[in-house]
Amino acid sequence: MPEDRVVRVHLTPARLTPERLADSVAVVIDVLRATTTMIHALAAGCVAIWPIAEVEEARRLADEMRAGRVLLGGERGGVPPPGFDLGNSPGEYTCARCKGTTLVLTTTNGTRALLQAAAAARTLIAGFVNYSAVCEQLAQDPRPVDIVCAGYQGEVALDDALLAGALVEFLCEHQAVTLNDAARLAWDCFEHHGRVLDGALEISAGGAHLRSLGYDEDIRAAARVDQFTLVPEVRHEPLRVEIGAVGIVKSHWGH
Ligand code: MLT
Repeated sequence: MPEDRVVRVHLTPARLTPERLADSVAVVIDVLRATTTMIHALAAGCVAIWPIAEVEEARRLADEMRAGRVLLGGERGGVPPPGFDLGNSPGEYTCARCKGTTLVLTTTNGTRALLQAAAAARTLIAGFVNYSAVCEQLAQDPRPVDIVCAGYQGEVALDDALLAGALVEFLCEHQAVTLNDAARLAWDCFEHHGRVLDGALEISAGGAHLRSLGYDEDIRAAARVDQFTLVPEVRHEPLRVEIGAVGIVKSHWGH
């Protein structure tokens, strides 16, 4: 009798250790807004994204790479640091700006969570905007699943938990799984809030902060389920994010 597939949710990356992820396929989530933005940037033609933890390191890397076409993007406190080419609003990443460029990206939580989750055997990037494509990649991969939520300012983020719950629901409907408690909590959260996604994203702490900055459109952009069928994936040596898979058999969004 094959063992159930282990599915774990980490509502913040605080207690993640490389050893815990070594044999897993990890899914990194920062719905508002880093992973949503990464998906938009690759869809708009960025050839790779370099996730960087610190602003000064990002500036230095972009300057070193300026020989090619480099974009320096991201946020602190929700707004682009001085001298950045782009912020962290998905809609900024247009084909005209992105085609053929490499994006150096640093954000408050999302890029740090990604760098921690990169210790996994395989690391995928998820938003609601590529939900079904991520579902299908997970269904095809036999490894245990670790869903890593970036959270918001070190706390659990409702927006990330909702997407984690939606992925847990898909996995539970398609295979025998063993869930950790956080996976059950995320699933319950999605069952309760997931039917009104826009509203749920707006009331999250990250959503409320974005609205206070006038970034309401970013919340609407993050809620556009299955807008894209590409799945960004972490590559190593050097660590970067590129398009890993493209295409879906069908939508798996049931709400
Ligand atoms: C993050 O990485 O914490 C978020 O992307 C923050 C933001 O976009 O404002």
